[in-house]
Amino acid sequence: MADRIYYPNAELAKTSYCNSMDQYKKMHEKSIKQPEEFWSKIAKQFYWETTSSNDKFFSYNFNRNEGDIFIKWMEGASTNISFNLLDKNVKCGNGDKIAFYWEGNDIEDYSRLTYRKLLEETCKFANVLKSKGVQKGDRVAIYMPMILELPIAMLACTRIGAVHSVIFAGYSSDSLAERVLDSKAKVLLTTDGAWRGSKLLHLKAICDQAMDKVKSHGHNVESCIVISHLRRVTCPPGNTSDGGKTKNGTSNGSSSEVNLSWDDDRDCWWHEEMEDADSSCYPVWVAAEDPLFILYTSGSTGKPKGVLHTTAGYLIYAATTFKYVFDYKPNDVYWCTADIGWITGHTYVVYGPLANGATSVLFEGTPFYPQNDRYWSVIDKYKVSQFYTAPTAIRSLMKFGDDLVKKYNLDSLKVLGSVGEPINSEAWLWFYYLIGHGKCSIVDTFWQTETGGHVVTPLPGATPMKPGSASFPFFGVLPELLDEDGKIIEGEGEGYLVFRQPWPGMMRSLYGNHERFQTTYFDKFNGFYCTGDGARRDSDGYFWVTGRIDDMLNVSGHLMSTAEVESVLAEHGAVAEAAVVSKPHPVKGQCLYCFITPNEGKNFDKQLQDELKKKIRERIGPFAQPDIIHHAPGLPKTRSGKIMRRILRKIAVGDRNVGDTSTLADEGIVDLLFQLRPEA
Ligand code: WT7
Repeated sequence: MADRIYYPNAELAKTSYCNSMDQYKKMHEKSIKQPEEFWSKIAKQFYWETTSSNDKFFSYNFNRNEGDIFIKWMEGASTNISFNLLDKNVKCGNGDKIAFYWEGNDIEDYSRLTYRKLLEETCKFANVLKSKGVQKGDRVAIYMPMILELPIAMLACTRIGAVHSVIFAGYSSDSLAERVLDSKAKVLLTTDGAWRGSKLLHLKAICDQAMDKVKSHGHNVESCIVISHLRRVTCPPGNTSDGGKTKNGTSNGSSSEVNLSWDDDRDCWWHEEMEDADSSCYPVWVAAEDPLFILYTSGSTGKPKGVLHTTAGYLIYAATTFKYVFDYKPNDVYWCTADIGWITGHTYVVYGPLANGATSVLFEGTPFYPQNDRYWSVIDKYKVSQFYTAPTAIRSLMKFGDDLVKKYNLDSLKVLGSVGEPINSEAWLWFYYLIGHGKCSIVDTFWQTETGGHVVTPLPGATPMKPGSASFPFFGVLPELLDEDGKIIEGEGEGYLVFRQPWPGMMRSLYGNHERFQTTYFDKFNGFYCTGDGARRDSDGYFWVTGRIDDMLNVSGHLMSTAEVESVLAEHGAVAEAAVVSKPHPVKGQCLYCFITPNEGKNFDKQLQDELKKKIRERIGPFAQPDIIHHAPGLPKTRSGKIMRRILRKIAVGDRNVGDTSTLADEGIVDLLFQLRPEA
């Protein structure tokens, strides 16, 4: 069944924005050959305070021999994103339309926000930021759960031209500190805490630790604005937690609080600041290439990379991909389950939907709380028409059986989306038949933090689907496959996935480090943006992304580098050396498999393993916890001392077929490591 081709539902195709492969091909060709015309027509849907001239609309250099890499869209134009997402929607009669349905961690907690109210709150908070001295170009760090104040805060930044840096609220204080320090954020936003399932996260306490750390490195966070979130939500039944939380016995409306430490010169409450804030705020007009946000992603050398996105190009690309890929229609309710702490949440929870005047669900909880049917109950509750999630979530929900799904009415669904890693055909088929009832299109969207929006993806009313294939490039995107020598592979074949020219939504630089931007993405193949992923093109021209080819790991859709994990492991006093590889995992896609060489005289025991796991949880985040720690008295290395991860990956899965070992300094080590394999 997996080899079959699945055609878009004819009903859906009838009304979709792009409803045939012919139309797709025509539009794609135009977007590549006449990018100025293609994108300037789209840009006309938005408000520009000043416009760009035709000759300046698009310029770039992808070739380092010809100077620095640069990408510019709509030079000379100026605009304000919050104005386009909010004021414009209110002015055209959508003020009372719901922008977000908020669904809390607990079923009892929900609310909604109209476009008018979102505009008002955004303006008020923009004025609060101004009162804290935030100006155009200043960085604001945001460490928050999935609550309505999060998009409000991001939009408030854009209102005044400040640059937001959202940091996923599952990161540890060290990871948070590193990101706050790198961006030199002036203000940090957080909540007192948040419930994730039945677990309490002490977000303000984590921020306190991070701010201390940042201070010890010479940077001062001037203000920390805290949302009092816990008092207004229901606390999980039977949960008595530390931190002085008071538990109220009733099942709804219970309040919970944590003891917070407070620095009066720095910390303030969101609700107090908002009380007297003016609800109008004239937008600051910013240039097309002014920075919009920084979002950190893992780098293969360990230090996170501050991916920088700018204003005009990102806006038109987020809006256009959202419209065509999800085929959003005015009365639809759209739901993307991704956390706003990741790029998927930036582009497809906040910017893309709001640019299209869409109604979305913003979900704070997890798929497993209070029961493993939460996703299906939310789809039923809000009559969701587009549902966008990750293969890891699909796989973890599959194992609870079909009955949990069948309890709910999922007839409202039209388009299903997948993102974050390759989707295996079993999960694809389950998604297609059980969730989509065989009538929804599945869009397997390939993209990256760096690409800003979808770059290889089916269009739901046009593209015949092959389970596991992201299919064809989006408008403006020109992919190529290259071999190791940089030669272009024509027709069928497999190689490095690269892009030949920029589309409007791609990153512009790494914050504060343009050189690293150039070497990371453009040095490997001169003239091309290198994704770091491998891909295959089949005889019908479909792209199949096969995964990372650099030393990167993708655990449940969280990208991290082997180097980043190794350096934390190696800090442990008992560890001489650490090498980390990924191992396929039925739910997470990949899991971390760590080889540890203990120091002389140190034991490799259960205690050490537990300590190492704990260290990773604390330093990187719970999602990075290794599944397996393998005792490695030595590591397979080349004579020049390079760890051969290819061999470690084989050992991790118990595959004796390790290939050529002749370049190893000590070939005996391979056998030894097989003998020491922990029982899986
Ligand atoms: C990496 C980017 C973009 C949002 C989520 C992750 C992998 C992403 C797919 C897909 C195969 C995929 C790639 C990519 N990836 N989507 N549909 N099929 N692989 O953003 O953290 O920047 O990770 O995720 O390996 O390079 P990110």
